[in-house]
Amino acid sequence: MTKKKLRSQEWYGRTGKDGFIYRSWMKNQGLPHHLFEGEKPVIGICNTWSELTPCNAHFRDLAEALKRGIWEAGGFPLEFPVMSLGECSIKPTAMLFRNLASMDVEESIRANPMDGVVLMCGCDKTTPSLVMGAASVDIPAMVLSSGPMLVGRFKGKKIGTSDIWRFAEDFKLGKLSQEEFIEAEAAMSRSVGHCAPMGTASTMAAMVEALGLALPDNATIPAADSRRKVLAHMTGMRIVELVKEDIKMSQILTRNAFENAIMVNAAVGGSTNFILHLTAIAKRIGVELDLTDFDYFSSKIPLIANVQPSGEYWVEDLFYAGGLPAVMREIEKHLHRDALTVNGKTIGENIAKAECWDRNLIGTLDNPIKPESGIAVLKGNLCPNGAVLKPSAATPNLLVHTGRAVVFENIDDYKAKVDDPNLDIDETCVMVMKNVGPKGYPGMPEVGNMGLPKKLLEQGVKDMVRISDGRMSGTGFGTVVLHVSPESAIGGPLAFVQNGDMISLDVPNRTLNLLISEEEFEKRRIGFIPTQLPYERGYVNLFLDKVNQAHEGVDFDFLQGSSGSEVKRDSH
Ligand code: FES
Ligand code: MG
Repeated sequence: MTKKKLRSQEWYGRTGKDGFIYRSWMKNQGLPHHLFEGEKPVIGICNTWSELTPCNAHFRDLAEALKRGIWEAGGFPLEFPVMSLGECSIKPTAMLFRNLASMDVEESIRANPMDGVVLMCGCDKTTPSLVMGAASVDIPAMVLSSGPMLVGRFKGKKIGTSDIWRFAEDFKLGKLSQEEFIEAEAAMSRSVGHCAPMGTASTMAAMVEALGLALPDNATIPAADSRRKVLAHMTGMRIVELVKEDIKMSQILTRNAFENAIMVNAAVGGSTNFILHLTAIAKRIGVELDLTDFDYFSSKIPLIANVQPSGEYWVEDLFYAGGLPAVMREIEKHLHRDALTVNGKTIGENIAKAECWDRNLIGTLDNPIKPESGIAVLKGNLCPNGAVLKPSAATPNLLVHTGRAVVFENIDDYKAKVDDPNLDIDETCVMVMKNVGPKGYPGMPEVGNMGLPKKLLEQGVKDMVRISDGRMSGTGFGTVVLHVSPESAIGGPLAFVQNGDMISLDVPNRTLNLLISEEEFEKRRIGFIPTQLPYERGYVNLFLDKVNQAHEGVDFDFLQGSSGSEVKRDSH
């Protein structure tokens, strides 16, 4: 068998002027000539380190462990930065820039001499943006995730991101002072890593492990645990082999891998954001996947991992209980056990020896943490292209509910009215928020789990049905209908809801309907005036022009698919 020439040799293996140019400046880093001779695969380290992305702020250190592994296995690591999206700081929402970051990743990988790439992902959007970008190039790739923070402690109680929503209610009711709030801030974020519950970051880390893009245990080893560095080292060693075996992303990301990821997401009670990101990744790699797949494959799987927000504990605890492999082993009869993963073994082989050490953390198919999990996909006259709800985070007796709509035209209207004592609302009402979809906000922010009116909180109301075309934080909970498609800003039926209309939600039958006559519906449709989108230039203008709807993954239409890894022309 003749050895396949490395991709990087299209640059470094050249003679004459071209080879000089591709190599000479690289040597100013003290790199000896033999590194360029084509014996050592060049491994790109796609790093989302940034002090503005605190969940990834330990990535310089983690990258060093990764490099040690790459060197040990005979590779040649070259680290490069890409746009990093910090969920906690970016306005109006990090989701607005996920596609932009994915373009940075795609073009950086394709344009540069690398044979394989390790994607260093952590905070929510940093995983899908890197996986989407790399998938559109399709070279051998592995993901190394951040790992969760150590669980915080406040007033003797364990806390993590899901507690913010509870603290916010207590603050509204005067049970928590501003001083106590500030204390809680420091108590919650006491170590490196991303959010401690099964929020979107951990959901994404579980997703890449279930897809087979990361080594076992990538999803749960805490960021501060030295074993995270061991994982980085082993990832570095393995990516070199993956290049030699020439196993590309498209060989890992098969339809079966996506089905596995959907089932695992149900087992861990993962974030609803999973739907948007997995859909976008599937469209990049060319795998057919639509909303109904999420409902169909997750409906077989109950909640196995007892982790917040669907359960009680934290991702850190899940690691000590056996991690994701132990969770996957509980549902293995449903999984495609023969799906290939980046370590060269199948999912089935990877989980064969996994053990559960704590039944408080990991349930079984016969004795799950909750019988219902996953994603319910709703259809009806309010959401012709679908809407989603996470049953494990909802209140069971609200899953079938008909109530009077209380409408907020946009986020500003909501903020102005929600705590007004004169707002005509009670706990049986359905809260509706418009104009928080991909184009309407823009960027589809995490405001779908809108806080309840103060006067109802004071009465002890804990949950109400809420409907919007926005998203919800992976750490959020409640009977919240999200991702209504098409969105209201472009004339989706949500735009036609008026105060006092009756809305019927029936999760067991998967329906969401506005109870008005056909004639009235048509009348409102004809009278609809689209929202004026105020952006005239720059990236946001491109976003508004090219973004598709929630059921299609909120990607840009022109980014779907792959352009491969070949670049025909030289730079000089
Ligand atoms: Fe970064 Fe939650 S804010 S993972
Ligand atoms: Mg989030």
